[in-house]
Amino acid sequence: MDVLTALLLLVHLIPVSTAKNGASSKSRKRIMPDPVTEPPVTDPVYEALLYCNIPSVAERSMEGHAPHHFKLVSVHVFIRHGDRYPLYVIPKTKRPEIDCTLVANRKPYHPKLEAFVSHMSKGSGASFESPLNSLPLYPNHPLCEMGELTQTGVVQHLQNGQLLRDIYLKKHKLLPNDWSADQLYLETTGKSRTLQSGLALLYGFLPDFDWKKIYFRHQPSALFCSGSCYCPVRNQYLEKEQRRQYLLRLKNSQLEKTYGEMAKIVDVPTKQLRAANPIDSMLCHLCHNVSFPCTRNGCVDMEHFKVIKTHQIEDERERREKKLYLGYSLLGAHPILNQTIGRMQRATEGRKEELFALYSAHDVTLSPVLSALGLSEARFPRFAARLIFELWQDREKPNEHSVRILYNGVDVTFHTSFCQDHHKRSPKPMCPLENLVRFVKRDMFVALGGSSTNYYDACHREGF
Ligand SMILES: *[C@@H]1O[C@H](CO)[C@@H](O)[C@H](O)[C@H]1NC(C)=O
Ligand SMILES: *[C@@H]1O[C@H](CO)[C@@H](O)[C@H](O)[C@H]1NC(C)=O
Repeated sequence: MDVLTALLLLVHLIPVSTAKNGASSKSRKRIMPDPVTEPPVTDPVYEALLYCNIPSVAERSMEGHAPHHFKLVSVHVFIRHGDRYPLYVIPKTKRPEIDCTLVANRKPYHPKLEAFVSHMSKGSGASFESPLNSLPLYPNHPLCEMGELTQTGVVQHLQNGQLLRDIYLKKHKLLPNDWSADQLYLETTGKSRTLQSGLALLYGFLPDFDWKKIYFRHQPSALFCSGSCYCPVRNQYLEKEQRRQYLLRLKNSQLEKTYGEMAKIVDVPTKQLRAANPIDSMLCHLCHNVSFPCTRNGCVDMEHFKVIKTHQIEDERERREKKLYLGYSLLGAHPILNQTIGRMQRATEGRKEELFALYSAHDVTLSPVLSALGLSEARFPRFAARLIFELWQDREKPNEHSVRILYNGVDVTFHTSFCQDHHKRSPKPMCPLENLVRFVKRDMFVALGGSSTNYYDACHREGF
């Protein structure tokens, strides 16, 4: 058995949590590493395989868990696109041969795969805001194009959709039987992989996928900041964060040595190899069980991979400590969080529109939102990651609304900075909506440490 197979088998054998309680150590372990129970040295290959998110047995999740007297009001879903082909090639090597057509007799498979293809191939009519209309509706190249969604990526989101359907539609009746287009809010960036991921999720989710009821808006910014993207202080945080990253890399002599060795193997200058971001391509090899590339000078191998991945983990650790990324995230995530609480507040007023919102996005979208919410321990968004905000009404006290936050099926509500330890003071298993609103309207700016209490001031603070 080759190494990759052994590792893939290992990840399939990792027990999926069946715990009923979201705070159970097992379920938390997969999402939020626990410094007490997890070994201090994280295993780079184990981490990488979690990132791949290879579909296996159906996943248990904590979405929709609430006492009987709670009514589900609305759901806001942020996803990362599913498994994709690399965005970069390792110079002077053959790129991995991965087939991006969708076929039933190839793994991973989902029972709705053929129906999805046949439905998509009939075309969409006028279901998208320009320029989304020019994008293909499903992956369809015998040799994947750069960044193209793979069959794995489609299956991951069909699964997400099916899971959310069982919970939100079948169990909680979020949408009425005669639901209409107004009840969905759909938004995606302009990449084929995000649009296709959103379509696959909806195909798994909706009881009838009727193009007349689907309208995807186009979001030009990966931060989903719409009309509020201009924020100079956010950019300053980002520049400082990039400087931190650069300095950490320079300190890692083993990393430099590894890039040097790999550059020799592929026979290009080290700088060029590094600029080609080889980890992106190597992850694709790993996730798809395709051996790393070789040249007549030798092979890129698992030891190279481990060094680069270990550095990535180290980088994430330092990123949390130094908090520059947190500053970037608080400002970067404000517009989308503000939009979300606006939508929630309208729902609390009894409006029946936009009960289900879906934002089909990227790691660079989810990561700042997680960080801004105070979930800095959360793992980097894997392929097809999902971050969900649920809004609930207490039927016994109809004026009280509460939220739950779930990341990849794990309830992280009480890990957020706006609701930390709330459950110790309150018997309710969720967080008052006011906490989230107060955080987004004011406290997230206070957390930046200046004197600003609103987005505009925080973005234009002098002398930062
Ligand atoms: C990985 O690939 C090897 C051959 O390249 C194959 O024998 C093995 O079955 C594959 N493993 C998995 C888990 O697909
Ligand atoms: C926040 O949302 C409100 C509407 O809910 C809007 O009027 C305001 O401009 C938004 N602010 C930002 C910075 O996006």
